[in-house]
Amino acid sequence: MKSDFIGRRVKAQLCPRAIVGEMMELHKSLPYPKTVVLVGLMGAGKSCVGRRLAARLGIAFADADKEIEAAAGLTISEIFTKLGESAFREGERKVMARLLSGEPMILAAGGGAFLDPETRRLVKTHGVSLWLRADLDLLVKRTAGRDHRPLLKTGDPREILGRLIDLRYPIYAQADVIVDSQDLDPDVTVDAVQAALTTHFAVLDAASGGLTPAVASV
Ligand code: S3P
Repeated sequence: MKSDFIGRRVKAQLCPRAIVGEMMELHKSLPYPKTVVLVGLMGAGKSCVGRRLAARLGIAFADADKEIEAAAGLTISEIFTKLGESAFREGERKVMARLLSGEPMILAAGGGAFLDPETRRLVKTHGVSLWLRADLDLLVKRTAGRDHRPLLKTGDPREILGRLIDLRYPIYAQADVIVDSQDLDPDVTVDAVQAALTTHFAVLDAASGGLTPAVASV
């Protein structure tokens, strides 16, 4: 892996003037003033819900895992196997920092990203964290039959996910907003996420005396 693989700003470098103009137009109409960072365990639905929410709002979506893979030219599994988990975590931290320094968007974080104190600090400063909470049965069901998650290949997925719940849920609980991921059509969870964010930003707006940008209605 090239040492600087994560820090590249490929899109910004290649952005023609017309697209920059469009991005500025987009910024004026952004429904949320900050990047919404979806956190939670593998299988909680962060990518699926995030992509749908961004499409509804007409704003950008990024999946941190996909950005890491693109920057490294390797899949997550290959990064774990060839370079080890600590190199993956270092890359994840850099990718999260890069994505959080850009325009507000919807960002699906990998399950471990919010565990990193520096990433949590950046999320607090530049974003709004939303924990998509799910119970063990749902996580086991949603991750079954998918083999792109190296952490779940080291033993019994139910046992591993149970251990990660114990370790991580107290940290995910520090998120600004918490929404339960439903075992239903994903749009039901997207509705709940949108409603929770609307309330969150309305409360912030009221607390700041109406100084934050208006929020989208559900
Ligand atoms: C991980 C979650 C994965 C991916 C990597 C490690 C974790 O992302 O970043 O396999 O530590 O929980 P998803 O949560 O999107 O599956």
